[in-house]
Amino acid sequence: MKKINVHIKTNRQQDYPIFIGVGLLEKINSLVDITKYSKAVIVTDKNIPSSLVQNLQTALGLPNSVVVLESGEQQKDLENVQKVWKALKDFGCDRKSLVINLGGGVVGDIGGFAASTFMRGIDFLQIPTTLLAQVDASSGGKVGINLLGIKNLVGTFQQPIAVIIDIDTLSTLPQRELISGFAEIIKHGLIADKEYFLLVTSKKAQEFSQDELIEIISKSVQIKADIVSQDEKESDLRKLLNFGHTIGHAVEAMSQESNKPLLHGEAISIGMVIEGKLSKILGLLSNEECEILEQALIKAGLPTTLDLPVDDILEKIKSDKKNVKGETKFTLLEGIGKAIINKLVDDFTIRKVL
Ligand code: GLY
Repeated sequence: MKKINVHIKTNRQQDYPIFIGVGLLEKINSLVDITKYSKAVIVTDKNIPSSLVQNLQTALGLPNSVVVLESGEQQKDLENVQKVWKALKDFGCDRKSLVINLGGGVVGDIGGFAASTFMRGIDFLQIPTTLLAQVDASSGGKVGINLLGIKNLVGTFQQPIAVIIDIDTLSTLPQRELISGFAEIIKHGLIADKEYFLLVTSKKAQEFSQDELIEIISKSVQIKADIVSQDEKESDLRKLLNFGHTIGHAVEAMSQESNKPLLHGEAISIGMVIEGKLSKILGLLSNEECEILEQALIKAGLPTTLDLPVDDILEKIKSDKKNVKGETKFTLLEGIGKAIINKLVDDFTIRKVL
């Protein structure tokens, strides 16, 4: 088992561990001090095998109840947050109760946001079951919901008490979801570590062994933890993690309104190609590296092109919560393994690259 500590520089009381390994659910009690909690509510979704939920309930040794949500990004709404709040109230939860999110990024976001606001905030534990949530969404403390067609418009920053990444949960993960998770892994290489980028794009997601996956997840978690620990609330450095996300979030939100919704990693893959081209147009990234980026994503089995009206994408980009004073600033690449934040790009150039 590997253990990575997230140290929040501005608030050391929020430090928490991330455990990565196999068979971790069964020994949850030895990883986290559960005994200090009065009771727990497990938030999960319909895709999670009931045997997994039962294993967790047995291992907990704490009065608990379960809320099962529908699955999919469309569920990340206020209605589901209310469902969790109501479950917490109905189960008699108090300020010493714990929310345990067992599922992908959507479950982690809904359960985390509900916990961070219930009785002005109670603790939550993340047990991510998709590769994407394991390498990205479960750590860093961003929790929230989509509103008015805009990704993550409402949310909070609250760090979990711990993240438990049990690789066993990946054994039932559909291949499309596994590949989607690799988009964020590849992003970590692109923004921070060329050697890591070359490693994770050297073969297809499904060709990596379990041991190799543990190494990869650990490295991605470490890259993110190093960034988040220095800038929890995304004042500057954390924006590095947004490479591919300005266009990616617009594409993702639009795809949710269509009959072909993209997974988060798929939308981010398209976003990274377009923002890679933007980096090239602005003279930051060479033609050759831009081509390497695109080919790596194609080889990984991720989508790299889109067929959506440019005006609609631009409108979504304009309503991105990352914009300030109406300006669209991007995180772009200065080379593979090195990103740069706050690059102001005008509409003409965005249109051109789209
Ligand atoms: N997913 C990017 C971040 O957590 O900042």
